[in-house]
Amino acid sequence: MKQLLYSLVLLVLLLSVYLVFNMRNQYTELNNVIYQQSREIQLLRDNMAKLKFTSSIEGLPTIYVITPTYARNVQKAELVRLQNAFRLVPNLHWIIVEDSSTKTSLVKNLLREFPQNSTHLNILTPQEMKIQPKESWWKKPRGVLQRNLALSWLRENIPASGVLYFADDDNTYSVELFEEIRNTEKVSVLPVGLVGGVLVEKPRVSGGKVVGWDVGWGAERPFATDMAGFAVNLQYFKEHKGVQFLEKVRIGFSESEFLKLLVSLEQLEPVSIGRVLVWHTRTEKPNLNRENEFKRKNGKNSDYGIEI
Ligand code: UGA
Ligand code: MN
Repeated sequence: MKQLLYSLVLLVLLLSVYLVFNMRNQYTELNNVIYQQSREIQLLRDNMAKLKFTSSIEGLPTIYVITPTYARNVQKAELVRLQNAFRLVPNLHWIIVEDSSTKTSLVKNLLREFPQNSTHLNILTPQEMKIQPKESWWKKPRGVLQRNLALSWLRENIPASGVLYFADDDNTYSVELFEEIRNTEKVSVLPVGLVGGVLVEKPRVSGGKVVGWDVGWGAERPFATDMAGFAVNLQYFKEHKGVQFLEKVRIGFSESEFLKLLVSLEQLEPVSIGRVLVWHTRTEKPNLNRENEFKRKNGKNSDYGIEI
């Protein structure tokens, strides 16, 4: 009887040792599979990023697209929307300038996966230049230092010719827009949708020349266009030394003051006539009224361990 019990205990023991051993083996195997698969996923991701959806085309002028950006909940969504459009445009060089004292990994990762040339810069807007808590959102110009840094970078680092375009991170861009501005000789101007209190702001064109501006607001501005409404030839820009955006400027006059330093009305090249290819969309602030409650219940924010 005792013997049988011993044998049983021994059997159970052996069985558990076998089971534990087997489980450990299976666990290590599983771990290896996971490791292997995540490596493969990473490799695939890297390759996919490098796979150019549009190859670069020889002889086609490069468009240098300048995007100021700052950290907020919707930042990644905004930049991904832009990235999805820009990756379809051949010969586009994306310059992202963060309004930050450091280069964040969010932007770094985004540009790492961008299949075209890109440049990552940063400069923090000092507190006194930012909108104060009780001030209206339109009281101070935004993205000024960031665009100016990109302009100095272009002056110093790009000897080749090309075209520059300012693409704020919250607008919506059609891929076709870039073909309209690609052959800009001095400064081209184009319609912009959903801006300045009207459905469309556009240059008034007569006989192929700009003769004024169809706008809802600020028609007295010499160049009544939004930041998204013009492009500049890079060579031409570089010939105009010292041209940049003013830090202190009458509200709504940033673009006009900038263009005044570069061209006259008669010299403007109207493009995209009769077509809106860029929209001055502004992203709604997301409703996060349950985030605190989520944290209280779960001990963690909903974005714990995941980038949004
Ligand atoms: C309008 C124009 O479309 C902008 O080109 C112009 O810069 C702005 O007015 C102005 O008055 O300065 P709006 O939609 O009101 O645009 O401006 P935002 O989109 O909020 O800001 C323009 C750009 O600056 C964006 O790319 C944004 O990411 C960036 N920004 C904004 C910063 O880099 N830092 C900030 O603190 C705020
Ligand atoms: Mn905007």
